[in-house]
Parts: sequence; structure tokens; C-alpha cells
Amino acid sequence: MFLKSIRAWFALVLFMLCAATAHAAARMPNVVILATGGTIAGTGATSTTTVGYTAAKVGVDDLIKAVPELKQVAHVTGEQVFQIASENMSNEHWLTLAKRVNTLLAKPDVDGIVITHGTDTIEETAYFLDLVVKSKKPVVVVGAMRPSTAISADGPINLYNAVLVAGSQDAIGKGVLVVMNDQINAARDVSKTNTTTTDTFKSTELGLLGYVVGNQPHFYRASTRKHTVDTEFDVSNLNALPQVDIAYTYANVGPTAVNALVAAGAKGLIHAGVGDGSLPNKVRPALSAAREKGVVIVRASRVGQGIVARNGEANDDQLDFVVADTLNPQKARILLMLALTKTNDTKEIQRMFYTY
Ligand code: DGL
Repeated sequence: MFLKSIRAWFALVLFMLCAATAHAAARMPNVVILATGGTIAGTGATSTTTVGYTAAKVGVDDLIKAVPELKQVAHVTGEQVFQIASENMSNEHWLTLAKRVNTLLAKPDVDGIVITHGTDTIEETAYFLDLVVKSKKPVVVVGAMRPSTAISADGPINLYNAVLVAGSQDAIGKGVLVVMNDQINAARDVSKTNTTTTDTFKSTELGLLGYVVGNQPHFYRASTRKHTVDTEFDVSNLNALPQVDIAYTYANVGPTAVNALVAAGAKGLIHAGVGDGSLPNKVRPALSAAREKGVVIVRASRVGQGIVARNGEANDDQLDFVVADTLNPQKARILLMLALTKTNDTKEIQRMFYTY
């Protein structure tokens, strides 16, 4: 008799576990869309206007209404966080957005987040969030290269794919993702590589993470760099970020930009060097003088791919400079800003550039 009741008890527990698992798998995910503007919310004068349109016009409710298929794959709600062209994105916008993302992801009934965004600075916002989001839940940043009014606008399918990924178990723990043109890229490595075409977002040499095909994401890789819950950065109590600027280098460049940026209060300076982060003779003294004033200098490269090697084109040990590893100048700026919220120690900051 006793054995029979034990068997019955185990059978009941097993049934309840299976039922709960099946329910969780069958339950449609709850995805929140945070809208910030951009071309995905843009409108043009005619259906063939794909340049010269106005970005940031269509509200989040209308973006969602334009893709009724979203209801088949997720419970979607929308919030209009900003309504701007992304060339106007600021540190303050990033802090507001990051805090809203972290608040939402802390809710047990939120499974993932999609951020609609202008493509001009998607790669920067995505990388900033990659470093400060404190959840393993999917966060997907998405945009469009054609306004919502254009023939074959790419916004609706990009938004649909982004919601699919944000609601996918497979996207958990992958870091912040950029989903455009049926491709899934990591925030750290993706860049806008063409001014107007729909295939513009690429991770070039480091490669995409996967695709969205047949209404589901397919992952083939994951980033080796730390992100989200594994970073040391926390913006929850920050209302501002340290001033970090970029000085672009080219043949015949002089020290004017470096000196002006330091005079304007830069706490950190990214040198977007030529080649492997080379320092022209006319610029090196200005960078050294900035370092002596306590400005943290990071040697990056305008080239866009490859490692800026420490002590390669300059004696970083002697100059007390940091190198950007494979981060392009605009992403190196983001990491240096966050690094300066923790330390001014260049050895510690160099560790961060080799970690994230
Ligand atoms: N003004 C640009 C922006 O908001 C339009 C580009 C786009 O969103 O595709 O980033």
C-alpha cells in the first residue's frame, strides 16, 4: 500500500513538471518594444523616397499596428522612450534608456526587449547597453534603412524578426544583439558599413552570430567577450558620464583637435589613428601633454578592423597610453567613458579593453 502511494505521488509530480514545462514552452513570450525614433519611424513624401525623408515621425503604437503578425509570435507592448533621429542620441538618452531596460527586465513577466532606433548610431547604443544591461534576457536593437512609407520598406520585417529573437530562449545570455536584414550581430562587433543599403550592418571579419530564417533565429556563434551581467559597470546611480572625445587622424594632421578637446574638458581621448593606431609626430606631443594633465589616452584606429597592438606603433608603456584592441573609435569611446566611472588607472583600463 505504501509503495503504491509513493508511486502515485511521483507520477503526479512528474505530470505537474511536464505540464509546467509544456506551458512555459507554449506560452507566447512577453516582449516590450521601446521606440526611440530613426528611419524605421520615418516618413517620405512619396513611396519611392528612400533618401531625403524625415526620421522619427511614426509612433510606437503605429509601428506595432503596421505589423499585425507580431501578435502571432509574442505578446507585444510598446513605449515611446524618445522620438529622435539617432545622430542626436546623447549620453543622457543612453542613461535613460539603460535604466528603463533594466527596470523592465527585472520584471518576471517581461521576457525580452526590442529597441527601435535610427541606424546612424545603433552600433553605439547597442554596445553601451551591452556593457550596462544587468540581465541575461534578450535585448535586440533594430532599425531600418528605408522609411515606413517606401516601397519594400525593411522596417516591418526587421521589427518582426527582432521580436522573434527577443522572445527566443536561444537568444538568452548572448548579450545585446542587432537584428537587421535577416542577420543577427553582436553589439560589440557590428558596424554600419554602407550609407544607404539595407545590408549595411556587418561584423565584417569577426562575423555575425546567426540568421533569422523561417520565423526563427538560428545561432552559430557567441561572443567571447564579457557583456551584460558579467560586466563591472552599473549605471543605476549615474546621471552623467565622463566627457570622452575622439580625435581623428589623417595625413598632415596637427595638434589642434587634441588641444581643443582637452581644453574643453575631455577626461578621456580616443586617438583614431591611421593604420595600427600610428601617432603622427605633430600630434604625439599634444597627446603626451594631455596625459600629463591626467587625460586618459586610448590609441584606436580609423581602419575599422584588426587589433591595435600595445607597444606596436608607439611605446604605450612609456607614454602610459591604453590601446583599443579591436574596438573602433566610437565604441572605444563608450568603453572608456564607462571605465572612467570606475577608475583612472591605465592598467585597469587596459584590462577592461581586453575583457569587453
Ligand atoms: N537620421 C538617421 C538616424 O536616425 C536615419 C538613418 C536610419 O535610421 O536609418 O539614424
